[in-house]
Amino acid sequence: MANLLHLDASPRNQRSHSRRLSGEFIKAWKQFYPNDKITYRDVGQNPVPHVDEAWIAAAYTPPEQLTPQLREAIRISDYLVDEFLAADIYVIGVPMYNLSIPSTLKAYIDQIVRIGRTFALAPENPANPYQPLVLGKKMFIIATRGGSGFGVGGQYEQMNFQTPYLAAVFGFLGITDIRFVEMENDELGGQKLAEALENARTQIAQLAGSFHSL
Ligand SMILES: Cc1cc2nc3c(=O)[nH]c(=O)nc-3n(C[C@H](O)[C@H](O)[C@H](O)COP(=O)(O)O)c2cc1C
Repeated sequence: MANLLHLDASPRNQRSHSRRLSGEFIKAWKQFYPNDKITYRDVGQNPVPHVDEAWIAAAYTPPEQLTPQLREAIRISDYLVDEFLAADIYVIGVPMYNLSIPSTLKAYIDQIVRIGRTFALAPENPANPYQPLVLGKKMFIIATRGGSGFGVGGQYEQMNFQTPYLAAVFGFLGITDIRFVEMENDELGGQKLAEALENARTQIAQLAGSFHSL
């Protein structure tokens, strides 16, 4: 039995493609692995706080030196990190917003990238000072876009700070086994969008069904 963390980042509800597709991934997953435990976090509609000065002070204070106030400043972060670390598999639905990710997902990432918990700093090793602490996990990211050409080899590949950023930041934590399903053309609509959706659904069915051979 695995623990799966399902995360949505679109503020849209019924109209969201990433939300619908991540939901379809979970539905397919449940058919294959009905005993897996699924935890859901919706940062698109229930955003987490941004980091602030107290948060930063607390996150960089050794746990045994935390005052009650500092402990409170990272209480939500601790909860989110615990939840994140409890998962073996992650499924994330995420739109492209202004070439990157929605700020709500960035706020979540800022909460869970925590020194001593999800990465470690080894200043004595200047050649390799960052050590990932989230190892042995798998991630599926369903990334949606209104335009097109942001994928590998596309006209706007160099302007894509959505999927490369997610690969970099989760890779920084140690999650390097990441499969992307990228769906473009939301803004174009019509046949192009229908094809993009069908293509994404095919990939989702394949990924969910072939997990053990990945
Ligand atoms: C604020 C905002 C910014 C957006 N920026 C981009 C963008 O830079 N590139 C792009 O291709 N689409 C962009 N889009 C379109 C969305 O990526 C597209 O509609 C996507 O399907 C949204 O995800 P959702 O359907 O899960 O809500 C943007 C949409 C919004 C609302």
